[in-house]
Amino acid sequence: MYRSRLGGGIGDAALRYVSSVDDDAEIMAYDIIGSQAHVLMLNRCGIIKKSDAKKILAALRGIKSPGRSGAEDVHELVESLVIKKAGMESGGRMHTARSRNDQVALDMRMKVRDDINTVCGRILDVAEALVSVAGGHQKTVMPLYTHMQQAQAGLFSHYLLSHVDALLRDVERLAGTYGRVNQSPLGAGPVGGTGIPINRKMVAQLLGFDGLVENSIDATSARDFAAEYVSMTSIMMTNLSRIAEDLVVWSTAEFGFVELADEFASPSSIMPQKKNPDILELTRGKTARILGDLVAVLAASKGLATGYGRDLQQAKQAVWSASRISAGALEVLRPLLLTIKVDEKRMRAAAESSNLVALDISDRLVGEGIPFRVTHQIAGALARIAHESKRPVSGLGLADAKKAVRGTKVDAQLVLDVSSTATVSSSLKERKSAGSSGYAEQKRMIAGRAKKIHDYRTELASRENRIKAALEDLQRQAGRI
Ligand code: ARG
Repeated sequence: MYRSRLGGGIGDAALRYVSSVDDDAEIMAYDIIGSQAHVLMLNRCGIIKKSDAKKILAALRGIKSPGRSGAEDVHELVESLVIKKAGMESGGRMHTARSRNDQVALDMRMKVRDDINTVCGRILDVAEALVSVAGGHQKTVMPLYTHMQQAQAGLFSHYLLSHVDALLRDVERLAGTYGRVNQSPLGAGPVGGTGIPINRKMVAQLLGFDGLVENSIDATSARDFAAEYVSMTSIMMTNLSRIAEDLVVWSTAEFGFVELADEFASPSSIMPQKKNPDILELTRGKTARILGDLVAVLAASKGLATGYGRDLQQAKQAVWSASRISAGALEVLRPLLLTIKVDEKRMRAAAESSNLVALDISDRLVGEGIPFRVTHQIAGALARIAHESKRPVSGLGLADAKKAVRGTKVDAQLVLDVSSTATVSSSLKERKSAGSSGYAEQKRMIAGRAKKIHDYRTELASRENRIKAALEDLQRQAGRI
């Protein structure tokens, strides 16, 4: 349709190579809505007649899913369908003062703002599931790890809440991204704007945008909004991937801390006994893919001279992929978490088996006025003696305590009093610092996170409602003309 400057039609292979029609299926609806707003504005600004606008809007309304076409992208496709339906005299006016360059940026921004809201909603669903599981495990003792070695005794609720906090930061980050995405580029034209007296703000308002991407060069050339979105979702997926990795490890026979419900596990084609955590492995695997998507968006932009270049067409696939991966991973994780079986006994046994109270003993001795470096040395010596004699620290005697205090001025009896009464439970009772594994902190954190989730849901609903109200109003106005 656009080839007046070019001699003949495009060859089949060339068309297949340049066409984004398949990828554009994701933005066709946005393209149509964007065109409705544009046409309303053209009429209100006296650029096209009411009768033409009417015909174009009727044609736009009638567009269903199109069959095969020779169009290079959805913008050409929609325009050609409108011209076919409304005739060249009216339909040929739809693209006045608009370019595919501002149009594609508009469609992408409309899709990304919706995707942000979808992803945020699902993150909040997962966070809520984590909080609810945490609620039932405020007394479930487990080892906490550093270097994948047992480090301190902790609580399963504390572990779960740590991921809630990371996910809530993802929601906050995406909300920030939303503000930068929800700006209208339409009316920027190909790159430098237009002499036709359009009203960009009117279009932005009709489409529920918060403002304009003002500079027309920036509006058409930049894809940092897409890179930001894929970046935020990539970070979110790395957070999910860490949860997935923990659950994969903890569901091994060696750990046996958790067991997935059958409906979230996969069998083996040959080994009848197998129960594999494929969903969790795919979350790790798909995280690898989204990181690739991020690189794809950034790389498509980095060497591009300012002004639209067709390279940018490739960024769309990466954005769509990021949305599919994120929404899918979140959707399946929520019920997986809610149905997970936790073996509290095994968790506790693991936490009690390896002298995780060493740091707590050291801390108690600090409370007796002894310098921490000295208490660290004594508790370390106790742990070594316990390990070598295959006894728990709490089972050591005075002779052991005497060995442990050697070279210090500390009284062995005091050390024995402390070490013989230190248990995982006592240490969790004593753990008081803000945000710690202490019993008391769990209740406070659970209530705090539940409130945050509620507040973020309210904020999300208001973003969604603003878009919905604007687009419903647009339909009313388009229908009335
Ligand atoms: N299909 C293109 C894309 O997705 C639309 C913009 C094409 N503009 C152009 N001047 N070739 O990015």
